[in-house]
Amino acid sequence: MRLLLVSCVLVLSACGQQMTTPDAGNPLFLCDSTAPALTLSGSVQADLFDKQCKSCHNSFDATNGDFSDAARTADSVTKASKYTLKRVEPNQLGKSAMWLKLNNTKGPNGENSGGVMPPGGMLPEASRKIIKDWICSGAK
Ligand code: HEC
Repeated sequence: MRLLLVSCVLVLSACGQQMTTPDAGNPLFLCDSTAPALTLSGSVQADLFDKQCKSCHNSFDATNGDFSDAARTADSVTKASKYTLKRVEPNQLGKSAMWLKLNNTKGPNGENSGGVMPPGGMLPEASRKIIKDWICSGAK
């Protein structure tokens, strides 16, 4: 009986990872009109993708997107993700698989985006804000 209880708890906590579906009015999905306009070549590639993503997302295995330089990132993010959404939909946080993965959440209509990115766990808020401001300024 005890073993059964323990395994139930384990299963529940594993499923708990993505159980919530925030609604479209959730601040998580709203662009801030006063935020700075950020571009890949200006800072986002060097400050974020180079440091946090390109160790895995590079030309050795581009299946999940090659984010290893500004041109490749720009090209990769326009593509459909293997989930329901595009990797990035410019100016649309709730429709960008990348944003959902960074926040370990589903989209406003329950869109699944798989597990958190980076796989080790959510980045600090300041790093996530770089991606947010970049998506919200057209993801260029
Ligand atoms: C340790 C390796 C690793 C790191 C670091 C990493 N990723 Fe990933 N990424 C993966 C793997 C493996 C997958 C495929 C599994 C999945 O979709 O969750 C993936 C999938 C993705 C996808 C979905 C791609 C698709 O076509 O559906 C996105 C978007 C993404 N990662 C963004 C990022 C971003 C942004 C960063 C940096 C902040 C990052 N990843 C860091 C390994 C990594």
